[in-house]
Amino acid sequence: MTKRVAILLSGGGSNMVALAKSMTGDHPARPVLVISNDPQAGGLGKAQAMGIATQAVDHKAFGKDRARFEAALQEALLEAKPDIICLAGFMRILSPAFMGQWEGRMLNIHPSLLPKYKGLHTHKRALEAGDQTHGCTVHEVTAMLDDGPILGQATIDVKPDDTPDSLAARVLPFEHQLYPAVLQRYAKGDRTPVFLPTTS
Ligand code: GRF
Repeated sequence: MTKRVAILLSGGGSNMVALAKSMTGDHPARPVLVISNDPQAGGLGKAQAMGIATQAVDHKAFGKDRARFEAALQEALLEAKPDIICLAGFMRILSPAFMGQWEGRMLNIHPSLLPKYKGLHTHKRALEAGDQTHGCTVHEVTAMLDDGPILGQATIDVKPDDTPDSLAARVLPFEHQLYPAVLQRYAKGDRTPVFLPTTS
């Protein structure tokens, strides 16, 4: 049976576009909903243009009450009945309780070679550490931030003149390759990690 995929984002949604574009033909999944915590997120318009249902669950409307924000998010998700949730540049921290509810059904893409550099500013931190390689990781979401089984990684060589911005720009196209490759396997129930060859 075709798997239903919900995608959560906060920004431009380039990873969402890559995922949605990949879910055609004999792909085992289809996008059913794109949710953003930011009503202004560029990704919402891109999803609409692709004919995907969208919803904004504005975190600001809930002030500091994360439990109510997550309840609203949960309500939107339950209505869409996703088999798989892809976090794609979703920039709100979710509580362990929330993530635990979707454990085994939720994926995230993170712009570092996990377990290195959980959290923010990953490109800057990789450069400051003098890393020779950097990249991105798709992992299953568990109750711990940027933790959980690794389902795929793409590795690139760091260049001597790289800046955090240039590194981010060079990693992004690999995110767009890696995430769809992992999702396609995952939707078939295959958790074998995808490792893209190192690229300079
Ligand atoms: C990506 O680098 C993602 O890994 C990070 O935020 C960025 C989102 O980009 N967490 P986009 O919204 O998918 O274009």
